[in-house]
Amino acid sequence: MTPMTDSFASLWASRLRQNQGIRSLMEDLGQVTGHPDEILLGGGNPAHIPEAEEIFATCFQTLANDPNLTALLGDYQAPIGNDRFRSLAAEYLSPHLGAKLTKDNIAFFNGSQNAYSYLLNIHSGKMADGSFKKILFPIVPEYIGYADQTIEADTFLANAPDVIPTGNHRFRYGFNKENFDLSNIGCVVMSRPTNPTGNIFPIEDIQWIEERTQKKSIPLLIDLAYGNPFPNLIATEEPIHYAEGRTLSLSFSKIGLPGVRLGIIISNPDTIETLSSYAAVGNLAVGNLGVYMMEILFRKNILPDLAKNVLRPFYEKKLELAISIFESEFKKSGVEYEIHDPLGGFFLWIRFPNLSISNHKLYHLCKDKRLFIVSGHYFFPGLNSDFSHTKECIRLTYCRKEEELARGAHILAKIVASHQAKSK
Ligand SMILES: Cc1ncc(COP(=O)(O)O)c(C=O)c1O
Repeated sequence: MTPMTDSFASLWASRLRQNQGIRSLMEDLGQVTGHPDEILLGGGNPAHIPEAEEIFATCFQTLANDPNLTALLGDYQAPIGNDRFRSLAAEYLSPHLGAKLTKDNIAFFNGSQNAYSYLLNIHSGKMADGSFKKILFPIVPEYIGYADQTIEADTFLANAPDVIPTGNHRFRYGFNKENFDLSNIGCVVMSRPTNPTGNIFPIEDIQWIEERTQKKSIPLLIDLAYGNPFPNLIATEEPIHYAEGRTLSLSFSKIGLPGVRLGIIISNPDTIETLSSYAAVGNLAVGNLGVYMMEILFRKNILPDLAKNVLRPFYEKKLELAISIFESEFKKSGVEYEIHDPLGGFFLWIRFPNLSISNHKLYHLCKDKRLFIVSGHYFFPGLNSDFSHTKECIRLTYCRKEEELARGAHILAKIVASHQAKSK
């Protein structure tokens, strides 16, 4: 393919063509060869959990046998979903999100990633009044997939978090209130649980932020891809409710349906209306499969039990296993390490102090051994100050089989040990 020359690429295209984290991560997922030595601890695929897969397969078969299949395959939805599905979602989600929702609060997208690429551009860049607004992350590291979604450059802003030691080889990032500044901010964004760290933003800190955002009518976007009401991987932390001033996003991906591509946005009617215009232009319509599957899952009220009895116990057990496997390999090889308290989601965020190589180089050395991880440097969009963690941390998924985790831990520990100066 002939490379695009500068005169044929917009500034946005030129930025996109620089190697972004999300592209590298998703391409790693797509370039898997199936080689038996491959160890896939990189991407955000959920685990294959047989009990969940059986439920989804039954749901799929019901649709395949339905005389309405012709509509599913042969008709477009409205841009953000037909009213029937939006009303159903509003009614179903109302008690789960502690609010009286109507269809005017609901928009469906082809994955929540797809929704964010619109939301972030609605709330940032050059505004109708001529001002320039940025997107503030109250805490970084934050989800790799937000970076590069805005058409305009230089739209992200973040402060380094507080680093709070929480125990032997453990720490947690805390929200640094001191440098919180809403000047020229168009929206505040957080994922809860946070991808990549597994942190769960405390409700009191959210209230503190909202006391300030609400005075300035700045929307707070809370990404619940791993949160409540499904898959609800929030351990004992409090769930998030919908309230005026908030835009919430839910995803079907982390319950086990990433291939279906369904994201649900809950927001005020004005934002939903704008999203509908965006969706018509960019997508024409949301895909049918996700909303049809949602109809079955919501009408039969399947997801609360699935989350409680299948997903949460599965991920909690996997987490315990993964921690014991990684810690035992790190100890065997004399690796210095710190793990972020894994409160929710399904990733481990690990810091290796005193590394003589960057985390990006570590990623490449692991990849040479067919071990896929994600370098942590991608997860700090908008951070302009020095923070050693940007170069010292990696993200791992623990959704894989025990023997794969064990091989991965062994390789990672060996590589890190050979590039780490001992502090003692
Ligand atoms: C925090 C977070 N938000 C959003 C997404 C996007 O998910 P999807 O587009 O599959 O709904 C992901 C995917 O990994 C994620 O981790």
